[in-house]
Amino acid sequence: MSSSNSKPSVTSETLDEILGHKRPRRNRRTDWSRRMVRESSLSVNDLIWPIFLVDGQGKREPVPSMPQVERLSVDEAVRDAALAESLGIPALALFPYTDPTLRDATGSEALNQNNLVCQACRAIKAEGLNIGLITDVALDPYTSHGHDGLMSGEEILNDETVDQLCMQALTQVDAGADVIAPSDMMDGRVGAIRKSLDENGHRNTQIMAYSAKYASSFYGPFRDAVGTNSTLIGDKRTYQMDYANSAEALREVEMDLNEGADMVMVKPGLPYLDIICRIKDTFQMPTFAYQVSGEFAMIEAAAANGWIDGERAMLESLMAFKRAGCDGVLTYFAPRVAKLLTSQA
Ligand code: PBG
Repeated sequence: MSSSNSKPSVTSETLDEILGHKRPRRNRRTDWSRRMVRESSLSVNDLIWPIFLVDGQGKREPVPSMPQVERLSVDEAVRDAALAESLGIPALALFPYTDPTLRDATGSEALNQNNLVCQACRAIKAEGLNIGLITDVALDPYTSHGHDGLMSGEEILNDETVDQLCMQALTQVDAGADVIAPSDMMDGRVGAIRKSLDENGHRNTQIMAYSAKYASSFYGPFRDAVGTNSTLIGDKRTYQMDYANSAEALREVEMDLNEGADMVMVKPGLPYLDIICRIKDTFQMPTFAYQVSGEFAMIEAAAANGWIDGERAMLESLMAFKRAGCDGVLTYFAPRVAKLLTSQA
């Protein structure tokens, strides 16, 4: 069969003409050149390590849906804090697995000055490490219904919850927390917490607001880790954001900044890079992302099956946050990445 097509004759000269002598591959030819034109970089200073706490001594309990992540007793958390400092990780974010017998309708354990988070803050601070402690302000690890706020019937009460969150924040700061991170999405909580911190002489305590936190299916493994998957009644859509919305995230960030937030956060991370980018471009404030448990679990699961190269996917996902404009990322990969980055240095 003869074809009526004429044989293509692509010469370098034709391509030079098409390209106007511009050839983007020139810059990519060698390793040194790729490094020279690289726009973003990832360092240990970009990492915040979330750790889970559990009651006991010398305990490191694996979390089945989060490979290599463990719930730590306070003494073990102190060891990991020292490891984090030695790796150059700037801060830890603390989350408790609260004994089910201590959970109640009002989350009263959140105000216990001797709860797990407070114990860990005191113990880690006693070591005098050069590392920041970020504590989560929300009631869900402490409530019997698993919600971040107080309930009346089916309703999550806003104003009554904010009142209690202010107390929770003060309790944490008294124990040594450096950064308060409200993750509950109640209206007005950043301003109310700022005011009560200031009134109690804590003007230097920073607030990292979970400003754009979406009602997401990617929190599943975290809820296993803190034991709220089994307790949660219904869902969190009356306070966490609708994942179809983007302009609303800008309004949330603007309000939190006006209320005194020092830093803002977007959560989850990778599926929300567009939100991060808009927020950074609009406000030029320290902007963080939380690469949440489900994102971590997906990478781990695919890697365990040999479907992707886990280490490379980890680095690529973290660089994506930097490219989108993040100043840092809360990530369960923090110690692993830090080890990789420091051994390369
Ligand atoms: C709740 C809280 C959640 C996470 C951090 N704080 C989950 C939720 O809203 O149920 C999720 C973090 C993760 O998935 O890694 N205050």
